[in-house]
Amino acid sequence: MRMYDLIMKKRNGQILSRDEIDFMVQGYTTGTIPDYQMSAMMMAIYFRGMNGQETLYLTESMEHSGERLDLSGIRGIKVDKHSTGGVGDKTTLALTPMVAACGIPVAKMSGRGLGHTGGTIDKLESFPGFSTAISSETFLRNVNEIGIAIMGQTADLAPADKKLYALRDVTATVDNMSLIASSIMSKKLASGADAIVLDVKTGSGAFMKSQEDSFALAKEMVTLGNNAGRKTYAIISDMDQPLGFAVGNALEVKEAIDTLQGKGPADFLELCMTLGSYMLIAGEKAENEKEARDKLTESVYSGKALDKLAQLIEAQGGDQTSVYHPELLPTAEYQEDIISSQEGYISHITCSEIGMCSLLLGGGRETKESAIDLSVGLILRKKVGDFVKKGETLAVLHGNDREKMTQARQRFLQAYSFSQNIVEKSPLIKGVITP
Ligand code: URA
Repeated sequence: MRMYDLIMKKRNGQILSRDEIDFMVQGYTTGTIPDYQMSAMMMAIYFRGMNGQETLYLTESMEHSGERLDLSGIRGIKVDKHSTGGVGDKTTLALTPMVAACGIPVAKMSGRGLGHTGGTIDKLESFPGFSTAISSETFLRNVNEIGIAIMGQTADLAPADKKLYALRDVTATVDNMSLIASSIMSKKLASGADAIVLDVKTGSGAFMKSQEDSFALAKEMVTLGNNAGRKTYAIISDMDQPLGFAVGNALEVKEAIDTLQGKGPADFLELCMTLGSYMLIAGEKAENEKEARDKLTESVYSGKALDKLAQLIEAQGGDQTSVYHPELLPTAEYQEDIISSQEGYISHITCSEIGMCSLLLGGGRETKESAIDLSVGLILRKKVGDFVKKGETLAVLHGNDREKMTQARQRFLQAYSFSQNIVEKSPLIKGVITP
């Protein structure tokens, strides 16, 4: 078999067989197929697409390209959760302690942020001493003992995807449905959970900008998961504006703690409740959404979910004091209000630009190696549909460098659009795809 022939086949719109897909995935992972041929293949797939069968073969091939986690030593039904990524998306920080407090064993692998989206591991490192670089043994033991553990993705888990994703990132081939679906699901399947709840973002801050594409992606991933014998659900949720108010690592941790104390933003709480409900149903801890919501609410108001977060932080080397005293988390030196020079209803927020403001302040990575400033970011005061008077505060910038703050302010103001007419707030949850 020759990679040249496979590229030509896909370029001409033909369908690749399982053997051909295995050949290219294995060859690329081991290095016998070079980047330039794989780039051409990715672009051919981008334009020609893949059918459901090809997407399944690609997913399975990447899933089996390296180590697969065996979670059978953990008691109970393991339910994983994954978000396709967004701005202000601190869901894992609040949701996983909530569901763990309801009895779902949480064995979660998370990633770091790149570009305008943040990563859970970076956020968690706001707790001094906390580490996700734990061994598989510690990971499994912690889940059995305290019900929750979060580790960084090992290099050996779906290495084909790791390599391919980095290639797609620099060849403008990320936002293709089959490629995203197989990338996410290969990692989820290799991470060994019994059931999976996906949060598929839609809107200006998401990979999938239109609802039609987001629903199609969600259905594709649910089909892949269920065909692999894992009960899979997908929630399609809004990413046309940041989730909650906080954007930036430690600021998002503080907002997640507020939420676990019952005083978080309504949209963020609603997302946690919706995803959490399906996690409880999938994990057989609730029969229906109402029962699940009652249990999740109790986990918050009893303080059990917050205590679970503290246990997680302590078990992985962090200082749990800041869970109960979030004022001890990293704090930026300067805080500056961004004042509105206009009056009207906010009609649109270019979500990715808000993520870029946090990145400009030092809160995100320009390259994989960049160091990040955990303390910086923004707190939004106004979101879509809100009425703003001239002179009112739109957001507060948290920074350590005045010059960067000036740049971020300029960028921020470009991201907000106003209307003189009332603007309807669009629903956070756009739909649910069940098995
Ligand atoms: N997240 C992934 O893991 N892969 C993609 O292709 C897109 C988002």
